[in-house]
Amino acid sequence: MLSAALLIPIPRLIASGITFRENHFLHGVASGDPLQDKVIIWTRISSRNYSDKRVRWEMSTDPGFSRIEKKGIKAISGDSDYTVKVDVNGLSPGITYYYRFIYQNTFSATGVTKTLPGALKDSSFCMAVVSCNNWEDGYFNSFRFLAQKQEVDLVLHLGDYIYEYATGEYGNPASGRINEPRNETLTLQDYRTRYAQYRTDPDLQILHAAKPFYLIWDDHEIANDAYRDGAKNHQPNEGNWDVRKKAAIQAYLEWLPIRVKNASQIRRKFEIGDDIALYLMDERSTARTKQMEIDEPGFNGEDRAIIGNAQYNWLANELKNSKATWKLIGNQVMFSGYNVATGFKLPKYNDWWLGYPHERGKIIDMISKEKVSNVLFLTGDHHESFVLALHKEDKFMQYTKAWQKKPLAWELLTPSITSKNGDRRPAEEIIEFERMLRDKSINPHLAFGDIKSHGYFIANISKHTFRADYYFVDNVLSRDAKEYMATSFSVDASTFNLS
Ligand SMILES: [Fe+2]
Repeated sequence: MLSAALLIPIPRLIASGITFRENHFLHGVASGDPLQDKVIIWTRISSRNYSDKRVRWEMSTDPGFSRIEKKGIKAISGDSDYTVKVDVNGLSPGITYYYRFIYQNTFSATGVTKTLPGALKDSSFCMAVVSCNNWEDGYFNSFRFLAQKQEVDLVLHLGDYIYEYATGEYGNPASGRINEPRNETLTLQDYRTRYAQYRTDPDLQILHAAKPFYLIWDDHEIANDAYRDGAKNHQPNEGNWDVRKKAAIQAYLEWLPIRVKNASQIRRKFEIGDDIALYLMDERSTARTKQMEIDEPGFNGEDRAIIGNAQYNWLANELKNSKATWKLIGNQVMFSGYNVATGFKLPKYNDWWLGYPHERGKIIDMISKEKVSNVLFLTGDHHESFVLALHKEDKFMQYTKAWQKKPLAWELLTPSITSKNGDRRPAEEIIEFERMLRDKSINPHLAFGDIKSHGYFIANISKHTFRADYYFVDNVLSRDAKEYMATSFSVDASTFNLS
């Protein structure tokens, strides 16, 4: 027999005329690839029957939408998994815009975005640098804290936006978070389902609604240690690699707010005023040859690529000719490297730039020969925080005498949002390892190394200074977390010194 408590509410609601509306915006709203006059806005429509094939959108400079600056109608289709992207143009530089979508008389949440400034003048541009948010490793608390920071203009996501693994294969069971689908993502539907799950995360939704993103992929958007023609985590019984890669990239392009239409366009440039040139790299899908062991014949070969000749030529040409004060390279894997003392284990580095010595050497030589000033690598993938100087004399894993001199470049690695780092090693082991890393006789080029924390850094960039503030969270296993600023570094534009 049904209890009275269960029976009562339904007739009351019907009597009061309330009807339940379907939520058509389960995956929130997002914006990305802002220019001075354009920005992509994004949503996805969820519907039982998709009887209406069109969605409306509106943009305003006022959160109340009292005056609509831009509006339009966009067709929706299963061909793009009912994701919607609009490239809104004719906007003004440096302006905050509010946007929303309307489907069958229901409104999405209101998103906030911002166009690039025309010039920095006396102000600064503030870019948060993030990577590696693995669902099964915990909660994306850092995204929520970041969303609340008024001063942040934009989020740069350097990859590992999703992870491809089956549930239980890579993550922390203590998080209680279970992947959808449960299996490893192999098909277009699998990748779409994985993105859809990530985009139900409230902290990721809050951040997307609050800030525009620039994004590049790393390996896990396809499969672990991906290269052009395969991946360590792609086995012959998992189907054709090219079909899988194409599916993964299709889902990425559908689900993320970027202007890119195909893999060859993911490498791209953004100019922020006359002061910042940001180069976003593809170190996975278009050119990378298979990883090799350091003692394998051919390891140093000129035929081995991580970015390939076309991308190298593009980057070299850009860096040589750029008039920008700051040349920032949005970079997937660690460029510099570090040493470990006898008795400590060096992480396997053949997937990093160090695993591709020919192209790495070409870039070092080019920056040096062309006297390209103020180059900073902003790097993801590593899950741990490092600040490192890159010198011309840095031969493979030998960092002697370099520290006191002006470096060719600085490299700043952002920690993971959640993905595993040294955090699950015993506390004493972490302390010892970090002490060893920071020992100037071992790593004279290392200004900071933290192997246990999760979070991100904010690059606050003015004409005169590039400042990086590292923010960490004290917990990723529940949403009850605190954030703190761990450390801060500044690079002076005229001396290129770090302090
Ligand atoms: Fe990662």
